Amino acid sequence: MLNQAIQDAINEQIKNELYSAHQYLSMSAYCESITLPGFAHWMRTQAQEEREHAMKFYNFLLSRNGRVILQAIDQPVVEFGSPIEVFEQALEQEQKVTAQINELYGLTASENDYASQVFLQWFLTEQVEEEKNVGDVLETLTMIGDKGEALFLFDRELGTRENEV
Ligand code: FEO
Repeated sequence: MLNQAIQDAINEQIKNELYSAHQYLSMSAYCESITLPGFAHWMRTQAQEEREHAMKFYNFLLSRNGRVILQAIDQPVVEFGSPIEVFEQALEQEQKVTAQINELYGLTASENDYASQVFLQWFLTEQVEEEKNVGDVLETLTMIGDKGEALFLFDRELGTRENEV
């Protein structure tokens, strides 16, 4: 059985992951609006991964006889200045999620909740991957700059992304 503080923190993280999904889907919609379907596909796939992250927390709470309490999700950002700005904000968001997971891990450590620590190790590893994936796209976009043809080809490449979770 989970203690109340950990249960509350996991419910908060379900909200955070669902917000991430919401934000990535909004980024996808923006990419559609500027005719970058590959970028839009990448973001839509990422939104799906975030929903799966939320469900991992949801199912973990249930398996520990916890109570899932869904919370309101804030409106995501809807307008961006460029594809590079989209990925800059995505990287900031992933760094924020990493900090949230670290804080949650710290709480489970201070409460001697070993089962939750084992569960959270998957997320610690996943966040390294998440930051790298977004960072790699950002680096390529920085190299591309305003070269339209290169952006077109990169859009096609991002359109081949598969769901990794
Ligand atoms: Fe669920 Fe992208 O962190």
